[in-house]
Amino acid sequence: MDTKLVFQDAAGLPTPMLAVFAVDIATGESEEPLPALLVTSDAVTNAAAKVLASGEFKAALGETLLLHAPNGLKAERLLIVGLGKAKTLSVNEIRKGAGTAVRAAKPLSLRDMAIAFPEDHALSDEHLESLPGPLMSRALVEGAELAEVDYDIYRSDRKDRSIGTLTVVAKDSEKSTRAEIQAGFGEGLIVAAAQNFTRSLVNEPGNVLTPTVLGERAAAMCKEMGLKCEVHSTRKLHELKMGAFWAVAQGSAEPPALIVMTYEPKTAAADAPVLGLVGKGITFDTGGISIKPAEGMEKMKYDMAGAGAMIGAMRAIAQLKPKVKVIGVVCSAENMPDGKAFKPGDVVTAMSGKTIEVVNTDAEGRLVLADGLHYAKTLGCTHLIDAATLTGACVVALGILNAGLFSNDDATCEKFQEALKTSGEKFWRLPCTDDYKDQIKSAIADMMNTGKNRWGGATSAAMFLKEFALDTPWVHLDIAGCAWNDENKPWIANGPSGIAVRSILEWVRSYSA
Ligand code: BES
Ligand code: ZN
Ligand code: ZN
Repeated sequence: MDTKLVFQDAAGLPTPMLAVFAVDIATGESEEPLPALLVTSDAVTNAAAKVLASGEFKAALGETLLLHAPNGLKAERLLIVGLGKAKTLSVNEIRKGAGTAVRAAKPLSLRDMAIAFPEDHALSDEHLESLPGPLMSRALVEGAELAEVDYDIYRSDRKDRSIGTLTVVAKDSEKSTRAEIQAGFGEGLIVAAAQNFTRSLVNEPGNVLTPTVLGERAAAMCKEMGLKCEVHSTRKLHELKMGAFWAVAQGSAEPPALIVMTYEPKTAAADAPVLGLVGKGITFDTGGISIKPAEGMEKMKYDMAGAGAMIGAMRAIAQLKPKVKVIGVVCSAENMPDGKAFKPGDVVTAMSGKTIEVVNTDAEGRLVLADGLHYAKTLGCTHLIDAATLTGACVVALGILNAGLFSNDDATCEKFQEALKTSGEKFWRLPCTDDYKDQIKSAIADMMNTGKNRWGGATSAAMFLKEFALDTPWVHLDIAGCAWNDENKPWIANGPSGIAVRSILEWVRSYSA
């Protein structure tokens, strides 16, 4: 999609479809919805006046209403897109609203469309608190770009419903300057492209996206974006004594991939932080010898979503150029049952020297990450963040709306929570304090790879990882429940969500000196 930004009155823009946003300004619980447009153009307001007065449209989030041949507008159609209650409006609703507009256009096979930049000052302060222009602009572009993608690339009967051109039409105003809107717009394009890149990786089936192919895709991205990239395999794992990572990899005919992507800012002080982004890249998780039930196993192709998030984040980092060094480390393997596979009861030695009793070969993510986290530290990382589809227990605990957040350092964790305000993603902090350490105590090794019972399984996994982060400030993201959308939403296709890319990126930028 070619997305451009123009500054003019929306009413004068010739386009097959102009989308405008509406909010519900009714305040009381029992009051009837009162939709109001976020535009100051009289022509647009007049064109929509009758239908808004009819009560047919409630301005609920994700609701749309289409008018043909709107009076007084150069547009052939006017699409009114609800953003929900005015009182609770944030940039997150604008992201979703823009997505809703794009996804409403696709089934109509429209090739071009326009979205009017929301003018929050169209309403008085009593109804709506004003929102920051650059963030609105960025969220609008992100939402539109994320919504444009459908995951039907393997269907022969797929219809090309891509939107060729999206014009964002903004009016000059004293509130948000052109420069601010332009800056947010440019950032939105970069961030959304990165998130869509992640989604395209996560969407791939396991037979297409093997660890080797993941390495190739990461390397190609790095080459395009000017990042340094190294992709290693079996020999390097042995050289580095990555016994935990290798234990998982050894049961597959597909060789593992250790992917190292480096972004270096032009200048950095000697004592500047170095951020390590570590991703779980299991391209298919059968569970290994502790094999998973057949039902739903096909979904385990997305067990590399943490790796996908890190590769996507690196892509945007290369373009946004924060003033902080960032190293992305992806540990990719296939978890298979085989004559050569690791077994329950095996004791393996991680790169850090710690010994691990393997109790369940399906708890493989923490094994590959153990070596990934330690390795990132040997590369000089002073702060670590990992993302992984790590535990079903996290999905049981938090459902599919919030992903799990764990940390050994409050300040670092708070920086991540601050980043969520911009990204709009939801992460809920769960504990991993030392009083949980007993959970992973082993009788015969330094630790075991599962908890001693089922309770608090997401925390047991985090406790395991913490043994490898040690005193390096570390944030762990368990994205098992949020990396794949099972339901179609008005603003995004079902399939890979690309969760964590935006938040990791903002967290990284918060260290930019
Ligand atoms: N990849 C799975 C976790 C997962 C579950 C991701 C559901 C997405 C959706 C992970 O490798 C796994 O199997 N974890 C086990 C750990 C257990 C054996 C301690 C789990 O959660 O059941
Ligand atoms: Zn598993
Ligand atoms: Zn897994």
